[in-house]
Amino acid sequence: MLEQIEFTTKSIHNRSNHFKPEIGIVLGTGLGGLVKEIKAEYILPYDTIPGFALSTVEGHTGQLILGTLSGKKVMAMQGRFHFYEGYSMQQITFPIRVMKAMGVHSLCVSNAAGGMNPNFKVGELMIINDHINLFPTNPLIGKNYASLGPRFPDMGETYDAQYIQLAKAVAKNNNIEVKEGVYAGLTGPCFETPAEYRYLWRIGADAVGMSTVPEVIVAKHSNIRVFGISIITDLGVEGYTQKITHEEVQEVANKQEPKMTFIIKELVRLMK
Ligand code: HPA
Repeated sequence: MLEQIEFTTKSIHNRSNHFKPEIGIVLGTGLGGLVKEIKAEYILPYDTIPGFALSTVEGHTGQLILGTLSGKKVMAMQGRFHFYEGYSMQQITFPIRVMKAMGVHSLCVSNAAGGMNPNFKVGELMIINDHINLFPTNPLIGKNYASLGPRFPDMGETYDAQYIQLAKAVAKNNNIEVKEGVYAGLTGPCFETPAEYRYLWRIGADAVGMSTVPEVIVAKHSNIRVFGISIITDLGVEGYTQKITHEEVQEVANKQEPKMTFIIKELVRLMK
C-alpha cells in the first residue's frame, strides 16, 4: 500500500509540475458544481491515474481537479467511489491517502442524503457533526502502517468543531438555513425501507447515505481535519416518506447545490 501511494503521488506530481494542494474536496451526487468555482490548473481523469478506481455512477464524473479555490490550493474529486459499486474499502479511500501524501491538511466532503429528523425539509443542508458507521466493514481493517496513522484512532471529534462553527457563521451571515446532525453511512444501493429509516432515527442518526464514512475514517486516521455537509434530498420521516429515485436525488441536489457551494467556498477561504 505504501508503495502504491508513493507511486500515484509521484505520478500526479509529475503531471502537475509538483502541485501541492492544502485542501481536499470530495463532491457527491449532483454536487459537482463547485468545480466551476475552482480555477483549474490540471484536470486528471481517474482512468489516467494509477491506482484509482473508476466512477461508475450516473451523476458522478470521474476526474481529479487541481487548482485554486478562494485563494487556496485544492485537490478536488469530481466523483467518488462507493462500496455498492463493488470496490473495496481500500479502493474507495485510496484517494484520501494520496491527498495526505500530497500535503492536504483539511478535507471537505459533500453528499446527498435522506433525512430522518422530522425537523428537516427536502432541499435543506445539514452540516455533519458526527457519523455512525453502518458499513459491514472498516477501511482500516488489515495491516496498519504507523507512518499513515495509529492502529486505534480516536474518533471523539471526527468532524472539526472549529470548521463547523465557521461554516455555521458563513451560513448565518448569508441567510442560508443549515441544520446540523449525525450522518449514518451504509452500503446501499437500496434506499431504506420505512422500518430501516425508523431504526436509523432511533439509533441517533439524522440523515443517511451511501458514502462519506469510509473517506472520513481514513482522513481522521491520516490526521486530516474534516468538514462534511449533506443536502437532504428526500425524507425517511414516518408519514412523510415518499417513493424515491436516483434521478430525484440528483435533481434536488443540483437545485440546492449553489448554497452548499457557497458555504464550502467561503469555508475554504477561512481554513488554515
Ligand atoms: N438513503 C440512502 N442514501 C441516500 C438517500 C436515502 O434516503 N438519499 C440520498 N442518498
